[in-house]
Amino acid sequence: MTTHLQAKSTLHNGVEMPWFGIGVFKVEEGAELVNAVKTALVHGYRSVDTAAIYGNEEGVGEGIRQGLQEAGLKREDIFVTSKVWNPDLGYEETLKAFDTSLEKLGLDYLDLYLIHWPVEGKYIDAWRALETLYRDGRIKAIGVSNFQIHHLKHLMKETEIKPMINQVEYHPRLTQKELLAFCTEQGIQLEAWSPLMQGQLLDHPVLQEIAKKYGKSAAQVILRWDLQNGVITIPKSTKKHRIEENANVFDFELSADDMKRIDDLNENLRVGPDPDNFDF
Ligand SMILES: NC(=O)c1ccc[n+]([C@@H]2O[C@H](COP(=O)([O-])OP(=O)(O)OC[C@H]3O[C@@H](n4cnc5c(N)ncnc54)[C@H](OP(=O)(O)O)[C@@H]3O)[C@@H](O)[C@H]2O)c1
Repeated sequence: MTTHLQAKSTLHNGVEMPWFGIGVFKVEEGAELVNAVKTALVHGYRSVDTAAIYGNEEGVGEGIRQGLQEAGLKREDIFVTSKVWNPDLGYEETLKAFDTSLEKLGLDYLDLYLIHWPVEGKYIDAWRALETLYRDGRIKAIGVSNFQIHHLKHLMKETEIKPMINQVEYHPRLTQKELLAFCTEQGIQLEAWSPLMQGQLLDHPVLQEIAKKYGKSAAQVILRWDLQNGVITIPKSTKKHRIEENANVFDFELSADDMKRIDDLNENLRVGPDPDNFDF
């Protein structure tokens, strides 16, 4: 299980994905980005999450190349995710967007490609493009992001391959119990975005108290809670000390009581858009 930074979840198609990775949302092209990705790989991270809309795939690719070299790793030792952005949803459009992402990243395959948002009327055709790319061996696993249960049911009814991943906003203020139960039952691995609620939760007294008890930080407690809930997590940081801190969550275990206290912080509160009501 989640005993070390490189431990992996086995997806329903047999592909293994690290439980822990680094996210790079809002990190612009440049040295800070390249260094963050490189630092993460050198420190032992094996998974990197980007997206076409982040506008940083070139720097992520450069960070990966530098990180692989410095850490003495091969491409197949790491797991790279990108996502197709909304205007590119459609069969031909998505095939093309995939090629563009690969080219920017400087890679010849992706480990995981996601439909970024469930745009009504468009995600089924986009999914068929992902199925083609998957069958052609150009992506090891395919998945979705920001899909609610009804989106997943619709997708599974209309298409052939079940998503291997659903990446959604997930943190102690948005515990997504129903969605997690549905995904688990279907064999769809849930993955948390904004696991730290973009830094807004770290002063919470309950989290602070639990953190103190285990000699950990509030961020570490939250990330450990993700893993103990069977949820893949990809916290973002560009700071070396936080990249290290965030990954240092494999030497303690939250008690059932403390897991419940964290669950009880749920308010169904989002920092990002609502997948049932967005206009982009
Ligand atoms: N699929 C989607 O629609 C979607 C949407 C949003 C995000 N994502 C993915 O999920 C990843 C993570 O989400 P996120 O970037 O929104 O937010 P997050 O990981 O919840 O929080 C990141 C923020 O917390 C700070 N931080 C990180 N570690 C910390 C620590 N140990 N102590 C204190 N502050 C800390 C970071 O600042 P510093 O960098 O200054 O350390 C940054 O401001 C993204 O990067 C992206 O890859 C996906």
